[in-house]
Amino acid sequence: MIDGKKTMLSGMQSTGMITLGNYLGALKNWVTLSDDEDINCFYGIMDLHSITVRQDPANLRKSARNLLMLYIAAGLDPVKNCIFYQSHVPAHPELAWILNCYTYMGEMNRMTQFKDKAAKHSDNINTGLFTYPVLMAADILLYQADLVPVGKDQMQHLEITRDIANRFNGIYGDVFTIPEGYVGKSGAKIMSLQDPTKKMSKSDENPNASISLLDDKDTIMRKFKKAVTDSEGVIAYRDDKPGIKNLLDIYCCCTGKTVDEALAEFNGLGYGQLKECVGEAVVNELAPIQQRFKELSEDKAYVDGIIKTNAEKASYYANKTLRKVKKKVGFTELPR
Ligand code: TRP
Repeated sequence: MIDGKKTMLSGMQSTGMITLGNYLGALKNWVTLSDDEDINCFYGIMDLHSITVRQDPANLRKSARNLLMLYIAAGLDPVKNCIFYQSHVPAHPELAWILNCYTYMGEMNRMTQFKDKAAKHSDNINTGLFTYPVLMAADILLYQADLVPVGKDQMQHLEITRDIANRFNGIYGDVFTIPEGYVGKSGAKIMSLQDPTKKMSKSDENPNASISLLDDKDTIMRKFKKAVTDSEGVIAYRDDKPGIKNLLDIYCCCTGKTVDEALAEFNGLGYGQLKECVGEAVVNELAPIQQRFKELSEDKAYVDGIIKTNAEKASYYANKTLRKVKKKVGFTELPR
């Protein structure tokens, strides 16, 4: 709670350009949530998390700024909401260090995302990757977040955050708010266009598998044309038709229509026509975001100002919690 209002915090790693999946599954829901006047919202550009996998420095810098501009372009008001770079608030790694000392190896060993990522980057299984969830716990607990909108794949990290917070509170009294996970209303999980049994991912090697938020119209239409479907030829919303189901999900997310409305609309049409309609819906959804993104890219001073003000705002709240934690643990305050 901050100033009597509920607090929400979420974020994405700044690694590469985000996809239609990140947008429909997370960002679009954040925009809806941030319209609620009774919630204080924090959205992080989680660049500290990004370096758990090796990054090219110039790309990392560019990805982080693009992500910030996309948050704003997608509709998050950077004055009402606090949109900040994780690396601009040193309280994050500081609290993460402290929480590391209240987290067990066994707990981290159980994390399925660590196992997946370790398998994928077997040449660089660093300790940052191992303690990644502890940094995420620090992100959340610093702001005393009540609500954390996350995808299903992050639920385990949220559970461990609650465990760490409860453990700490058990020793030192009520220091941290225990956060609740929040899986968005639509809960849309957008799948790969090339293998609809896999989540759409920006790190997919096949460029046709995902739609980048900045793809132009022709690219979007081409990728949907190539989308993998099935051989049945009937438009139906069924688990055994993951390709068609995914296209319908994308269509409904972009147009706000229900699945039944979409099915009625596509009744009797072929897959080619469906793909074209979905492609157009996506183009229409992304066009205003891309336009706003372009304007922001051309206004360096405005974006810089946002970054600076929000880093200060985030630091203010984060430091409040950090000071409390340091005192509880027994660190000595710097004499005035
Ligand atoms: N780990 C999250 C992801 O990859 C990103 C993230 C970092 C995050 N810190 C967070 C999400 C805090 C919610 C809250 O999606």
